[in-house]
Amino acid sequence: MPDTTDPRTIRLADYQPFAFLLPQVALTFRLAPQATRVLARLDFTPNPARPGRHDLRLHGEALRLISAAVDGRAVVPALDDTGLTIAAADLPEGAFTLETEVEIAPEANTALEGLYMSRGMYCTQCEAEGFRKITYYPDRPDVMARFRVRIEGDLPVLLSNGNPLGQGPCWAEWDDPWPKPAYLFALVAGDLVAHPDRFITASGREVALNIWVRPGDEDRCAWGMEALKKSMTWDEEVYGREYDLDIFNIVAVDDFNMGAMENKGLNIFNSKAVLANAATATDDDFARIEAIIAHEYFHNWTGNRITCRDWFQLCLKEGLTVYRDQQFSGDMRSHAVKRIEDVLMLRARQFREDQGPLAHAVRPDSFVEINNFYTATVYEKGAEVIGMLRRMVGDDAYAQALDLYFARHDGQAATIEDWLTVFEDTTARDLSQFKRWYTEAGTPRLKVYEAWSPGPQGGTYTLTLAQENPPTPGQPEKGAKVIPVAVGLLNPNGDEVVPTTVLELTKPVQSFAFEGLAARPIPSILRGFSAPVVLEREVPAAERAFLLAHDTDPFNRWEAGRALAKDVLARMITQGAAPLPDFLDGMARLAFDEGLDPAFRALALRLPGEDDMAATLAQSGHVPDPARIRSARQALSLALAQALGPRLAGLEAAMRVEGPFSAEAGPAGRRALRLAALALLTRLDGGAAARAAYAAAGNMTESFGALAILLEAGQGTAQLADFEARWKGDRLVMDKWFAVQAAMAAPESLPAVVARLTARPDFDMKNPNRFRAVLGGFTGNHAGFHHESGAGYALLADWLIRLDPVNPQTAARMSTAFETWPRYDADRQAMIRAALQRILAAPGLSRDLSEMVGRMLAI
Ligand code: TRP
Ligand code: ZN
Repeated sequence: MPDTTDPRTIRLADYQPFAFLLPQVALTFRLAPQATRVLARLDFTPNPARPGRHDLRLHGEALRLISAAVDGRAVVPALDDTGLTIAAADLPEGAFTLETEVEIAPEANTALEGLYMSRGMYCTQCEAEGFRKITYYPDRPDVMARFRVRIEGDLPVLLSNGNPLGQGPCWAEWDDPWPKPAYLFALVAGDLVAHPDRFITASGREVALNIWVRPGDEDRCAWGMEALKKSMTWDEEVYGREYDLDIFNIVAVDDFNMGAMENKGLNIFNSKAVLANAATATDDDFARIEAIIAHEYFHNWTGNRITCRDWFQLCLKEGLTVYRDQQFSGDMRSHAVKRIEDVLMLRARQFREDQGPLAHAVRPDSFVEINNFYTATVYEKGAEVIGMLRRMVGDDAYAQALDLYFARHDGQAATIEDWLTVFEDTTARDLSQFKRWYTEAGTPRLKVYEAWSPGPQGGTYTLTLAQENPPTPGQPEKGAKVIPVAVGLLNPNGDEVVPTTVLELTKPVQSFAFEGLAARPIPSILRGFSAPVVLEREVPAAERAFLLAHDTDPFNRWEAGRALAKDVLARMITQGAAPLPDFLDGMARLAFDEGLDPAFRALALRLPGEDDMAATLAQSGHVPDPARIRSARQALSLALAQALGPRLAGLEAAMRVEGPFSAEAGPAGRRALRLAALALLTRLDGGAAARAAYAAAGNMTESFGALAILLEAGQGTAQLADFEARWKGDRLVMDKWFAVQAAMAAPESLPAVVARLTARPDFDMKNPNRFRAVLGGFTGNHAGFHHESGAGYALLADWLIRLDPVNPQTAARMSTAFETWPRYDADRQAMIRAALQRILAAPGLSRDLSEMVGRMLAI
C-alpha cells in the first residue's frame, strides 16, 4: 500500500457523509478557449445524516472566482488551493442556494482533466476528481444531484448529459433526470457530425443513438454502433437492464488519458477506442472496441444508477463492469478464447502489479492520488473476484443476487459491504472470509499434493491443496482465503472420469478425496482459471503433453501448452537445454488440428513473452537475464518453426480469408492463425512470405501484421516507408507505426530508435496516444528497456520528468514500467532506483507521479 505516513494520504476509515444534500444543480457555460465562464447554482439542504450546523466546504482547483452569493446576497468565501469554505455562521439554518461564477482556461489544460480542448473541440473528463477544475462543488461520488445545463458557444454541436431541453443558434440546454455524482458530468462542444441510429428498448421506448466524430471519420463509426446496439440488447436479455433516457451519445476525442468514460447519456471515447474500419483497424482493435463500448454502456447500471460511496469502492463499479463486459465478449465470440485472452492480460498486468512494490488490495484503504488506483488490480482482479463469487454460489443465485442488488441500491452510492450483503441475503452464506479478496493484496500461491491408494472397490485419489498468501507492502501477514478450485479427472486413455467439480479451499491446507476410481487419474486443476492464483506444481513434461492433447477443458488445454512452453524456455535459459520434443510434437499436433478453433490454435502457438518469462523465472528464485531470455525465446521460435516445417506454408495459405472483410470472431480467428504461421515461416524463408503478405494485404490486420513480423525479423524497411507514405495523415494508424518500431527495435538500437521517433514533428507528447505509442512500445521491448547499459531506464526517466508538468496522469501510469525492478540483478536494481530517485528529485513533481515513484522506492 501507499506510504501511509505521507501527509497527503486519504483514508477509508475517515469516511463521513457530506454535511449537505444537493438535490438540484444548474450550470451555465459561456465557452471561450482562454476564458470560459461557468455559472453554478447549487440548491443545498442540510443532510440529516450529519446533524448540527456545518461549514460549507467545496472542492475547487485552478478556478478564478468571479462572484459568489448565498440566497442572492454576495458572500466572500475563504479560498485556498483546494477549494472554498463558507462558515456555518454565514449560512441560513435550513435550505439555501449558492450561486458562483468562475473563469477557467480550457485551452491551457494539457492534463486532460476537467474542461479541456482537443483540436478545436471542447470536452470534459471528470472522473475521478476533475469536476473541481470546472466549478466549486462537493466533488465526491456520494453527493448525487440532478443536473440542468445550458451551453453557450459558437459551435455547431453542443452536448451534455440527459435529454435535450432545447437549442438555438449558439446555445443548447440539457436536463438529466437521474441524480448523479459530478464525476459523471460531461460537456462536448465542437464541429462534429453524427452517425445516427436508434434502438427500441424491451418495453418499447425509442432511444436515439449517435456516434459523434470529426468530419472525415464518418466511415469509421459503423462497428461501434453495432457494438452499442448489441450491448443494449445483451444487458436487457442477460441482466434485465433497460436504458433509461431518450438519447445515448458517444463522442470520439483524439486527446484522452484513458480508453473511454461512462458519463451519463454522453459517453466520451478516446478515438482509438471507437473508430474502426477494415482499412484502418486490426481485428484486435475491433474486438477491443466492441468490449469498451459494452463496458461503458454497462456502466449505466453498474456505476451510474448504482454508484460508489467513495473512491475506495471503485471496484464496486469497475470490477463488476469488467466482469460484465467479459461475459458479453464471450457471448459474442468464443468463451474459451476470451478466457485465455483475459487470463493472459491478468497475468501480464495484474499479477505483475500484485507481485511488486505497487501491490494493493482490490479495495485499497488509503491513497494519495485516486487516479493512481485505476489499476489492473481494481479492474481485472476486481472482475475475477466476482467470477469466483459466481462459481461458488452458482448461476441462479448470482442472477438473484444481482436482481436484489439493482432493486435495493438503485439510486444509491454503495459499498463493497452492500454488495457482499446482497449475496449473503440471497444465499444465506457467510462471506466474511471471502471478503479478504477485497481487502488483502497479493497473489495466493497454491500447492498441490497427490495421493493414490488402490482398493478392491476402486481406488481413492486424494488432492491436498495448500495456500500461501505472500506479504505485500503494508500487509505482512494474511489469513487464508476462500479459493474455488475447479478440478476434473481424466483416465490415462484421455476420458474424463470426474467432470469439473469446484473444490472450495478455505483453510491453509485441505484434502479432497475422489473414491471408486478404476485407475490413477490425471488431474486437470484450476479449470477455466477458476481463481486468480499461481499454481505451484511440478508436473512432468509427459503429463503436460497429455493434457495438451486430451484435456476437455479448453482453458486448461491451452494452459498445459503454456506451462510446457515455460518449462522448456526456463530450462533453455537457465541450463542451456535444448527444446523438448514433447513440446514441439504437441504444438505441431495442435497447430494442424482442424477440429480446433483457429483462434484457439493461434493463441496456443504464441510463445510466452519475455516479460512473462522474467516473471516466471523470478518466481522460481532465478534472477532473469533479459538478453538470455530474448535469445532463448528466439531459439525456441526457430525450433518450433523447424518442427512445423514444410506444413507451415500450407497452413498460412489455408487460413487466408477471401471476400469482403468481416470483423467477426470466425474470420478474425483465421487471420490470427495465418499470422501466427507467417511469423514462424519468416524464421525459415528469409521474409519472402511476409513481404508477399504485406504487398497483397487487403486490410489493416494483414498489412500491420505482416509489417510487425518483418520488423521482428530485423527487416521491413521498405514496408515501413510504404506504410508511412500511405498513412502519414492518419493519427490513429500512425500511432501503430510509431509503436511497432519501438516495440520491435533490436535492444542495442532501441534508444536511437526512440530518439529518432520522438524528434519527428508528428511526435506530440501532449497527445497521450502518441506518447504511449512510442514510450509504451519502448518499455514493452523487454530486452531493450532492460538493456545492461541502463540507457533505457535513463531515457524513460527523462521522458517522465518532461511529461509530468504537462500530463501527470499519463506520466504516473507510464512509470509502472519500473515496477518490476526487484526481479533483476543488483546492477539493474541500482540503475532503476537511481532513475526513480532522479524523478523524485525533479522540482514541482505532481502528486500523481510522486506517489507512484515513492511507492516503488519504499520497499
Ligand atoms: N471509468 C472509466 C472506465 O472505466 C475510466 C476512466 C476514463 C478514467 N477516464 C478516466 C479514470 C480518467 C480516471 C481518469 O471506463
Ligand atoms: Zn469502467
